[in-house]
Amino acid sequence: MRLLILSLLGMLAIATGPARAEADLERGKGLYATCAACHGADAAGNAALNAPRLNHLREVYVIAQLEKFRNGQRGGEGATMAAKQMAPMAATLPDQQALLDVAAYIASLDSPAPAATVEGDAALGADYYNQFCGACHGPTAAGNVALNSPGLAGTDDWYLLAQLKAFRDGSRGAVDGDRTGRQMRAMAAVLPSEQALKDVVAFIHGQASGSQ
Ligand code: HEC
Ligand code: HEC
Repeated sequence: MRLLILSLLGMLAIATGPARAEADLERGKGLYATCAACHGADAAGNAALNAPRLNHLREVYVIAQLEKFRNGQRGGEGATMAAKQMAPMAATLPDQQALLDVAAYIASLDSPAPAATVEGDAALGADYYNQFCGACHGPTAAGNVALNSPGLAGTDDWYLLAQLKAFRDGSRGAVDGDRTGRQMRAMAAVLPSEQALKDVVAFIHGQASGSQ
């Protein structure tokens, strides 16, 4: 019996794995100095540089996207110019711990919700959203970590539109091995028209936003 319990405990230890590394905010701040040139000191974004707001995103999503920019699933061949600009920036991060550190620093920042720039019919957009998007991104677009789906509330509306277009034309989410990108690509394709993209973006922009 004792042997059985011991071996069960052993299996549990393997299943739990080593404790997750702690993020070092000070180091993250130092690393973020490079990023601030485009994303701004508060990570509030800079539309003129196509660099989106980041400070509303969860750390886990920032890390996952930085990994994609580093392994070519985002910003490689066939990607938009904006994504191709970001990829070499992600490559400057020296190690995996640096991804954790910079993501934690970004999550510690805040800024007011971005102003609307895309015109759409939010009421029509709500219909599309509830039908096609809410199951993964949540009823108020706060995201769902278990489904790898980021929060969309608080994202710049111009960036939402640009990413939906990128998913639709295959410049994002079409690379082999990009499982979550491919999932989202299929969903972006169901919206019937360019106007429907704007409508759904107008709805998302109207949702409560801010840091998580
Ligand atoms: C030269 C300007 C520039 C610099 C410097 C830069 N970025 Fe970016 N970043 C961009 C652009 C442009 C995009 C949008 C890419 C796209 O449209 O697919 C982006 C996108 C991102 C995204 C994806 C956000 C999302 O919601 O999809 C993350 C995360 C990110 N950057 C983090 C960083 C970090 C961390 C650094 C510093 C190591 C950094 N960026 C430095 C320009 C830059
Ligand atoms: C099956 C689940 C699922 C559904 C349904 C879904 N998404 Fe997504 N979405 C995802 C996942 C997963 C990602 C992350 C993709 C990645 O890792 O690159 C994502 C990413 C996004 C992004 C990129 C955000 C960023 O900051 O990078 C936008 C914009 C988006 N979704 C909008 C929508 C809209 C609008 C709809 C409805 C038409 C929708 N999604 C439906 C799973 C889903």
